[in-house]
Amino acid sequence: MKGVILAGGLGTRLSPLTKITNKHLLPIYDKPMIFYPIETLIKAGITDIMVVTGGNHAGDFLRLMGNGKEFGLKHINYTYQEGEGGIADALSLAEYFADGEAICVILGDNIIERNIIKAVRDFEQQERGAKILLKEVPDPERFGVAEIADGRLVDIVEKPAAPKSNLAVIGIYLYDARVFDIVKTLKPSERGELEITDVNNAYVKEGTMTWEMLKGWWTDAGTFESLLRANVLVSQTGANNT
Ligand code: DAU
Repeated sequence: MKGVILAGGLGTRLSPLTKITNKHLLPIYDKPMIFYPIETLIKAGITDIMVVTGGNHAGDFLRLMGNGKEFGLKHINYTYQEGEGGIADALSLAEYFADGEAICVILGDNIIERNIIKAVRDFEQQERGAKILLKEVPDPERFGVAEIADGRLVDIVEKPAAPKSNLAVIGIYLYDARVFDIVKTLKPSERGELEITDVNNAYVKEGTMTWEMLKGWWTDAGTFESLLRANVLVSQTGANNT
């Protein structure tokens, strides 16, 4: 399985912190944010990795991570997203890299306490489709929210005003190779982006989306509150623990 880290977008919610650097290069405790999703993939046994970046500071990713030697990697692949067309738009740039293989996609601002090796292994046994990870949160309206009925995932709603559950869809997604064909069918949402939730709902409709609850804490780091929380959580327990 290959790994794709989505670190494009302009990070405008963190302005002025993101005026002169990319959001994913900001510090989370003792490391730049982008180090955490890289370690998440490596700890799950995924070492063939592409970073999708964008904005005005893409060259800084190369200066920071080079060919990945510091992580024990032989190589890191990079590509560049023009503009801020959404998470699924950024994902579409990894089609050539994926080359027909299944992928584990992680958002560049998502940090987790424990590793995801079980979910990755379970997905490898799954013949086709996709898998998402869910986490109970106090503020589901900030996320994609899963609606579960009789233990079955029936729908995902992006940032609902009236969430039907407190189960957020975290930013780690496992997809079969058909994901790129699904992205090509998407239309921009009201906020003008190709939404990852629309990709996920295509698999839900098809009946090939599975889900697991994430163990340990999870946070994003794209707002001032969550950036602070990520720093505090990592300082207390570390991230990507086995
Ligand atoms: O954190 C999990 C949540 O992430 C999910 O629950 C939501 O369903 C999903 O839509 C997403 O929500 P956000 O609105 O918080 O995503 P945000 O725009 O902050 O983007 C998250 C990461 O995705 C960002 O750190 C980099 C990447 N991204 C985003 C955009 C908009 C790109 O690579 N390109 C983009 O154009």
